[in-house]
Amino acid sequence: MLRRATAVLLAGLVVASLSACGGDEGDSGGAKDEKITLGFSQVGAESGWRTANTTSIQDAAKAAGIDLKFSDAQQKQENQIKAIRSFIQQRVDVIAFSPVVESGWDTVLKEAKDNNIPVILTDRAVDSKDTSLYKTFIGSDFVLEGKKAGEWLVEEYKDSTDQVNIAELQGTTGSAPAIDRKQGFTEVIGADPKFKIIASQTGDFTRAGGKEVMEAFLKAHKDIDVLYAHNDDMGLGALEAIEGAGLTPGKDIKIVTVDAVRDGMKALADGKFNYIVECSPLLGPQLMELVKKVDAGETVPERVVTEETTFTQEQAKAALPERQY
Ligand code: AHR
Repeated sequence: MLRRATAVLLAGLVVASLSACGGDEGDSGGAKDEKITLGFSQVGAESGWRTANTTSIQDAAKAAGIDLKFSDAQQKQENQIKAIRSFIQQRVDVIAFSPVVESGWDTVLKEAKDNNIPVILTDRAVDSKDTSLYKTFIGSDFVLEGKKAGEWLVEEYKDSTDQVNIAELQGTTGSAPAIDRKQGFTEVIGADPKFKIIASQTGDFTRAGGKEVMEAFLKAHKDIDVLYAHNDDMGLGALEAIEGAGLTPGKDIKIVTVDAVRDGMKALADGKFNYIVECSPLLGPQLMELVKKVDAGETVPERVVTEETTFTQEQAKAALPERQY
C-alpha cells in the first residue's frame, strides 16, 4: 500500500509539472489508483477440489480488479518457496498461498515480512510458532471435518457389536488436511474399541494414488468394512479398485470421504459412496476481500473459517443439479 501510495504521489507530481509546462490537461485529471498485485502460490492440480479452488481464485481476482500472479507448485514445497521468493523480488503488494505441507516455512515467510509484504494463508495452515509471519488464515476446519466423518461412522454402526475394520486413505503426508482429518476422525472413533483402523497409507490426494493404495489394501486385507478417504478423488480411485476386485462399493465396503466435488457427489447419489463431509473450495471472493483489507493496512481476523455441511446419499441427489463444482 505504502509503495503504491508513493508511486501515486510521484505520478501526481509528474502530472502537476507537465500541466505547469502546458501539457495536455485533458489527460491530467489526477493520477489513477494502481491495481493491487497479488502473488498466489497454489499447491498444484491434484484433485477436483483444487481445480475448483484455482478457478474460484482466478475469477474472484478478475472480478475484484486485482492483478493476480498465479503459480502452480505441482505439489512441491521447493516450488512454492521459489514462487514466494519471486513474488518478493517482483515487489507484489500481497502474497497468498496454500502450503503443500505444514512445516518449513519460517525462513521464506520472514523474508516476506522483512520486505513488508503481507502474507495470507489460504486453505492450509503452517505450523510456524511465530504467527506474526502471516496476517490471517482463511480455510476449513479440517479437524472438524475428520470428526464429522467419525460421527457418521459411529451412528452407522451404533447397533453393531462386531469389530468394524477401517482402511484409511490419507492425504499428502505432512499436509494440514491429512494431519487434521486423521486427528479428528480418530478422536471420535477412538471412544469405541470396536472401530479399528487396519490399514492406513497416503494416496497423495490423487485419484491414481487412491486406486493404487486401495488395490494394495484389498490384496493384504480380505475383511475391510469401511474406507475413510481424506478426499473424494482418492475415494473415486478406490472405487475402481473395489469394483476391480469384484466387490460392490457402498455395500461390501462403505465409503466416507471429504470434499463434495461433483464427481464425488455423483458417486454418493449413485449409492457408491455412503457419506461426504463438505470442504468448500470457493475461497476466492473472501480471499480478495482480505487482500484488499490487508493491503489497506486494516485489521483482519486471525482466522476465517469456511462454512460447510455434510451429505447423505439422498441429500446428494437433491443437491447435484445445483452443484457449482
Ligand atoms: O487442502 C484441501 C484438500 O486438498 C482437499 O480436500 C483435497 O481434495 C485437496 O487436494
